[in-house]
Parts: sequence; structure tokens; C-alpha cells
Amino acid sequence: MPLAPITNPLEMDETLDNVLGKLNADAEYRRRFTQVFGGSGPIDSYQFLRALAQFTASLTSSNSRYDHYVRHEAGASLTDVELRGLAVLRQKCGNCHAGELFTDESFRNNGLDRSFPQDSGRAHITRSSHDAGRFKVPSLRNVALTAPYMHDGRFNTLPEVLDHYNHGMVESSTLDPQLRRAGQGPGIALSVEERQSLLSFLAALTDEQFIKDPQLAEQ
Ligand code: HEC
Repeated sequence: MPLAPITNPLEMDETLDNVLGKLNADAEYRRRFTQVFGGSGPIDSYQFLRALAQFTASLTSSNSRYDHYVRHEAGASLTDVELRGLAVLRQKCGNCHAGELFTDESFRNNGLDRSFPQDSGRAHITRSSHDAGRFKVPSLRNVALTAPYMHDGRFNTLPEVLDHYNHGMVESSTLDPQLRRAGQGPGIALSVEERQSLLSFLAALTDEQFIKDPQLAEQ
């Protein structure tokens, strides 16, 4: 159920009661919920979470320029720079940002902090110190539009994210082993040219059709 993003202080910082209050104050929402769920009482948390889960599951972004290219659609292409960026991403980022969603759905520590609370990240759920500082590898679809970045939004731009990978990373006990390097600090070496091509490619993951979907328009 999609509750955590609503109540987490780093995300919407809302309460379920307050959200239900807002929905119930709107006659049109009440009418529509009654139409779907029946009954005559106010919209309750069960109905709200069911409706939200159904709605979010129906949203799929699969029409970026990258998608047209991988599906070999007529007239679809990526520029040489974007193709180099795709190759760099697959080679240097692809163990985590893997597959067509650009995430392997794992939880990892990508070297943001030297120390963190013992219940941070995945450990908040598992209560295992082994998971402290590990966060879900996010999808990179539409990433050019979803600043700020990382679980706490500490980076405002994609160049800042690339700076982090290239020279901002720090060591900690749960740091992902593949980010460690012999004889130097952790990180992923990226030349200026590789950074430029990565930025170009990431922009090709923007799905104009998806973001203009009227279902997503703010009410
Ligand atoms: C060891 C696994 C790993 C590797 C390798 C990796 N990432 Fe990440 N990446 C993560 C994790 C985990 C996060 C989320 C961290 C958080 O939420 O604090 C992340 C977050 C990001 C974000 C922010 C997305 C958002 O919506 O906040 C971007 C952009 C990104 N990575 C790009 C890259 C690029 C480009 C590379 C290659 C140069 C790369 N990553 C390599 C694990 C990895």
C-alpha cells in the first residue's frame, strides 16, 4: 500500500487523516468514491489506499526517445552522444541502474555519508545494521524532471549527482563493495566527455507523452 511516501517527512509529510479530510471536503470525490465502492459513509482509508494503488499501478512510462529507439520504431534514433551515454551508463552504472527500468530494485549504499543513524534507509524496515544507509536504487526514467535527487534531495541537479559519483563519494561500513577502489577513495571515474554523454542520454529518458497525460495534471 502506498502509505510511506504520503507520511514520510522527507516526502509529502502528510497524515492520512488530513488527506481523508481533504478528499471528504470535495463533493465530487465523495460522489466518485461512492460510485466505485458503494456505501453511504465518508471516504475511508481502505477505499483511498485501494484507489491510489490502482491508479499508480496504471501509470507506465514507456514512450521516451530511448524507448522508441530500443523498439526499433520507424524514424526513431538517438544521437551519437546519447548512444555513448547509454554505453557509459550500461558499463559504469548498469549493475545497479539495470534493465529497462534502470533499477535492479535492490537496496544499496552509494556513498553519500560517512555515518548515519542505525535505523536509516532499509534498516528502518529490517532493523538490521547491515542495511543502515542502504536505499532503494531508483529508476532513472524521467530523471531529468525529478530533481532534487537522492532520498533526502541533497543534490539539485544531475551534474551534481555525477560529481558525487566521480569525486564526492565517502567510505562507510555498508558502502556497496563495487564502489570501492584499490589505492584510492570510493567512486566511479567519469571523464568530462563521459559526463556530457551521460547527461545527454539521461535527458533521452524523458517521456513527453507520459508527462502530458491528463490523468497526471494537478487538479
Ligand atoms: C552501487 C550501486 C549504484 C551505482 C553503481 C550507481 N548508482 Fe545511482 N543510485 C544508487 C542508489 C542506491 C541511489 C539512491 C540513493 C538515495 O536514495 O539516497 C542512486 C541514485 C541515483 C540518482 C538519483 C535519482 C533520484 O531520483 O533521486 C541518479 C541520477 C543516479 N543514481 C545516477 C547514476 C549514474 C549516472 C551512475 C553511474 C555513473 C550511477 N547512478 C551508479 C545506486 C547506484
